[in-house]
Amino acid sequence: MLIRPRRNRKNQAIRNLVQETKLDVNDLIYPIFLTENSKEEIPSMPGIFRHGPNDVLDEIKECMDLKLNAFVLFPLIPEEKKDKTATLSYKDNFYLKTIEKIKSKIPDALIITDVAMDPYSSDGHDGLLIDDKIDNDKTLEILSKMSLAQARAGADILGPSDMMDGRVAYIRNCLDENEFNNVSIMSYTTKYASAFYSPFRDALDSQPKKYDKKTYQMNPANRREASIEARLDVLEGADILMCKPALCYLDIISDLKQNTDLPIAAYNVSGEYSMVMAASLNGWIDRDKIMNEILISIKRAGADMILTYFAKLWASQQS
Ligand code: PBG
Repeated sequence: MLIRPRRNRKNQAIRNLVQETKLDVNDLIYPIFLTENSKEEIPSMPGIFRHGPNDVLDEIKECMDLKLNAFVLFPLIPEEKKDKTATLSYKDNFYLKTIEKIKSKIPDALIITDVAMDPYSSDGHDGLLIDDKIDNDKTLEILSKMSLAQARAGADILGPSDMMDGRVAYIRNCLDENEFNNVSIMSYTTKYASAFYSPFRDALDSQPKKYDKKTYQMNPANRREASIEARLDVLEGADILMCKPALCYLDIISDLKQNTDLPIAAYNVSGEYSMVMAASLNGWIDRDKIMNEILISIKRAGADMILTYFAKLWASQQS
């Protein structure tokens, strides 16, 4: 037999040499939930907490001791502070104040924000609901105010997760007009209307009150449509393109990587995390092996960086 692929698998040292994809802590972004109250665990996401404005500083320091330096922050807003137009999103709120505090106390922490109306919207939608329809262009005005407020608070990267048409260009122009040309945009380029977001919506109490998100988030059946979204975000000035969720969408991650020149992020979302945790708590799978296999597969598909609830756990296991 001339060719025996098993020779390259005969021991660990050889396997290490020929390993094509490697995961590094610098590839990971850790999502953190924020609350005005004190720290509490999210029931559908074992091991993941909502952090209070002070205790989040300790959490970030612990992560940075593990060399995990990039964070994406999401706020839990009490129901009584939500309204139709998500007014609180660009007013003096605890999310913005917490970002300011993090950047002043721990300047090296890379802070990525979430730009979308849903945590602040009494309708629970990412866009403005008028006469039972999401009004794309009126939403852009709100998103740009929110973006500006987050840039002023010191965010390094803004993450528009709303899927309105034209939002990247709209936000980019608004930032540039206000001298924030150094603030980056990580666009949720191909965000699918997925059932994998439900633990996240528990975490933020942000379920849509009526209707679903299918008029703005993409149909999971579509692959070619992802190229349209990617082309637009490139032309509109995005700095990083994201695919979300990750696991059922590895083909999309691969397409984005091959067809664009920008860095590619993938969001290993809440439902993907919770399934692993639930099965491992039942003793049905090996949590750590599954975590490693999942993260390496997302990277192998083409992601340069991964937003994942496993980030801190993974980092804590590297020597
Ligand atoms: C909403 C938003 C969602 C997530 C990130 N931003 C949920 C949604 O679109 O309903 C989901 C992330 C996750 O599930 O981990 N703007």
